[in-house]
Amino acid sequence: METNNYNDNNISNYSFNKIVDDTSNSSYKLVDEKSVPKFWVDKYKKEASKNWDLFYKRNTTNFFKNRNWIGREFTELSFNVDDSQENSFKYVLELGCGVGNFIFPVLETNSKLFIYACDFSVRAIEFVKKHEQYNESRCHAFVCDVSNDKLKDYIPSQNIDIVSSIFVLSAIPPEHHLNVIHNISEVTKKGAIICFRDYAQFDETQLKFASSNNQHKLQENFYVRQDGTMSYFFTLEYLREIFEVDKLFKFISGKYVTRETINRAKGLCIDRKFLQAKFERL
Ligand SMILES: C[S@@+](CC[C@H](N)C(=O)[O-])C[C@H]1O[C@@H](n2cnc3c(N)ncnc32)[C@H](O)[C@@H]1O
Repeated sequence: METNNYNDNNISNYSFNKIVDDTSNSSYKLVDEKSVPKFWVDKYKKEASKNWDLFYKRNTTNFFKNRNWIGREFTELSFNVDDSQENSFKYVLELGCGVGNFIFPVLETNSKLFIYACDFSVRAIEFVKKHEQYNESRCHAFVCDVSNDKLKDYIPSQNIDIVSSIFVLSAIPPEHHLNVIHNISEVTKKGAIICFRDYAQFDETQLKFASSNNQHKLQENFYVRQDGTMSYFFTLEYLREIFEVDKLFKFISGKYVTRETINRAKGLCIDRKFLQAKFERL
């Protein structure tokens, strides 16, 4: 296989010079009919948590950049909680928290939040718990496979106000997406908000996977990186379909976000395409 396509998510080395927010999805033709043999597809899926754990063994806490933009894009997570309100404390659930690049900036800027943070990589959760800002009175980090384990076994039923799903649903095979949605629905309050951001269809990484001589395709819009971690590329239509199933969640807003990123050191310019959306628990 070719060089590690996970570079796509390591935006810490890149600077942005073009930003376009768009509600439409321009179309490309993907010529990627050839898929990875079934034996390997099954193996990558079976070994997903092991491959993410090895990812954190190699990269420790140095890979992802802190999600400092989160409060700007999702105002529910910013510092606008009304201090005068009694019980204004809010409970957040972060799915696939990695090593805490979302948790710590959010806790630092908003003193009225408590975060339940889970990941299926044991090593990632260890990094979160060892972080100097980790404090059990503000955060509970736990190991959990959100496509399989019941979140309600870890979280008091229906007490979550906000769920953050930031670059995690893409790592989960599409046949498990509905399990994840049902799982979230069991721990969220009526009116809870889901904050979603992830890879969009026709992101340049997907185009590279599709045109590569090496085989990356596992299923429609679902690919494997060189390190064995997997990535799905979303359309807004698909995302709405899975969240609106059984009238569990209502669509609030959604847009495609395009970022042209430049790595001057490597002379690389990449067109990133993300999907950002919000849903409300009915
Ligand atoms: C791209 S990282 C994003 C980490 C974090 N959300 C962030 O934005 O920095 C994806 C994370 O999802 C976790 N993950 C993937 N599948 C998962 C699953 N089924 N259950 C729990 N965590 C999962 C991986 O271990 C990894 O830490």
